[in-house]
Amino acid sequence: MTDVYAILGFPVGHSRSPIMHNRAFAALGLAAVYVPFAVAPEKLSAAISGIRALGMRGANVTLPHKSAVMALLDHVEPDALAIGAVNTLYRDGERLCGTNTDAEGLARALREASVQLAGARVTLLGAGGAARASLVGLARAGAARITVVARRLAEAQGIVAELASAVQPCELCALGLADVSLPQIFAATDLLVQATSATLNGGPAAEAFIAGLPVAALPASAVVTDLVYRPLETALLRAASQRGLRTVDGLGMLLHQGALAFERWTGRAAPLSVMRAALLDAGS
Ligand SMILES: NC(=O)c1ccc[n+]([C@@H]2O[C@H](COP(=O)([O-])OP(=O)(O)OC[C@H]3O[C@@H](n4cnc5c(N)ncnc54)[C@H](OP(=O)(O)O)[C@@H]3O)[C@@H](O)[C@H]2O)c1
Repeated sequence: MTDVYAILGFPVGHSRSPIMHNRAFAALGLAAVYVPFAVAPEKLSAAISGIRALGMRGANVTLPHKSAVMALLDHVEPDALAIGAVNTLYRDGERLCGTNTDAEGLARALREASVQLAGARVTLLGAGGAARASLVGLARAGAARITVVARRLAEAQGIVAELASAVQPCELCALGLADVSLPQIFAATDLLVQATSATLNGGPAAEAFIAGLPVAALPASAVVTDLVYRPLETALLRAASQRGLRTVDGLGMLLHQGALAFERWTGRAAPLSVMRAALLDAGS
């Protein structure tokens, strides 16, 4: 019998997950297939019932369903609840459960790139879903302090207020992007995480966003990562490289969030090199 896995999104055609997981199943000789399903918001509940009825062993969930799906599951893991988003569904007996592999996916990607996370002082740009997942993942990995920087200060303050108790003892601070103390925060940063969509697709808007950041204030030992992987070398990573800083692109997080889901579903170690090559093929 062939196991069927899926990604539910709307739209979903852009997703690189099908090629990544199908290549991984093939590499391990597993009888399994992974398909994209475009599910409109009003059909999400029926789609989840379908997953249950068909006995599917797992699925991914992407925009716009990551929050709405939580109410339709039998169990949501505590970190996914804190983040407010589920990206992976799995079975535990008869129960359909949800987790968020973006958080640990980022931590794994950075560890793979030999970035020291324990005790790190992190500056996190953005206050959306990716920023929330990054915050929890980095706090769990032992970051000492995370400063959330958003163009709307109230958004950064909201995340900090909501997540502070869940991520103790990591210290959280909030700052507006235009705050005059931003260069000081950058100067005391070990890891800069770009989790806004401002660098997506490059272009003048991305360049303007980066021009406004005090990249020159970062210490020479700082590592810079951008979660955006389209393009792989974003305007921020280019600016950081030009300064001689170490950079980590967003492909590693995409890979490891998928690898964590794969491992959860199959109980097998994910074939990382096969999956990484698939992601690169899908992006070309
Ligand atoms: N590598 C991976 O596996 C991975 C995983 C998840 C996401 N991502 C990437 O991360 C990005 C963010 O995803 P998300 O789910 O968090 O999106 P989201 O929920 O829509 O949040 C986007 C955030 O970016 C901010 N923003 C957008 N344009 C900005 C600008 N010009 N200046 C300052 N802030 C700006 C938004 O601020 P406002 O609220 O003020 O608009 C918001 O805080 C996506 O583009 C995606 O490519 C990568």
